[in-house]
Amino acid sequence: MALYTIGDLHLSLSVNKPMDIFGTKWKNHAERLRENFAALREGVGCVLCGDSSWGMTLEESREDFAFIDALPGRKIILKGNHDYWWTTAKKMKDFFEANGFHSIEILNNNCFPYGENYAVCGTRGWFFEEERGGEHDKKIMNREILRLKASLDAAGDKEKLAFLHYPPLYQNYRCEEIIRLLQDYGVKLCCYGHIHAKGCQYAFNGWSGRTEYKLVSADFLDFAPKKIIN
Ligand SMILES: [Fe+2]
Ligand SMILES: [Fe+2]
Repeated sequence: MALYTIGDLHLSLSVNKPMDIFGTKWKNHAERLRENFAALREGVGCVLCGDSSWGMTLEESREDFAFIDALPGRKIILKGNHDYWWTTAKKMKDFFEANGFHSIEILNNNCFPYGENYAVCGTRGWFFEEERGGEHDKKIMNREILRLKASLDAAGDKEKLAFLHYPPLYQNYRCEEIIRLLQDYGVKLCCYGHIHAKGCQYAFNGWSGRTEYKLVSADFLDFAPKKIIN
């Protein structure tokens, strides 16, 4: 069964946050996402790598979730730095249930078995550089590492695919803790988002050690989900 991924939909269907101020590439981006998702067959999955909605609360994000829910297939979402609506897994699940959004699932301290052999794992991650980060940063970093570890542990002996919002590698930056964890768990593919516009040219796309990294932010992919498993 095919699996797709894309990050950073940055939807703002009910709040006033037009994305075309970030460049002409973002003009009518919701419409383009809808058209490109049409290539996905019902039943297949797509992992959304964070920054899904600009809404500050679940209520404010309702229209964005209605949009996401109406896209074909099963959507597995994780948290990005702009997902201020994100709350406890229980509150999010209850909200989706109450609104009839049955195709959206939350990736947070868990994993989703996919097809016969795979497991979808992940967490937001963290941009962290020791020389800049203080105690607070370290705390967030450590929490994210525990979340990723919990997700990878939950996958047992399935082949683990990792999805993060923040890149573990970017120019001279390397998040050694996350890179090591991916290596230790034999993760061959790690997809991430967060990087946009001109930043994309500096993003790392390729193999580092035994893990392949791919940037999948929506503008980098021209708003078309990327197929990562056939
Ligand atoms: Fe982001
Ligand atoms: Fe983003």
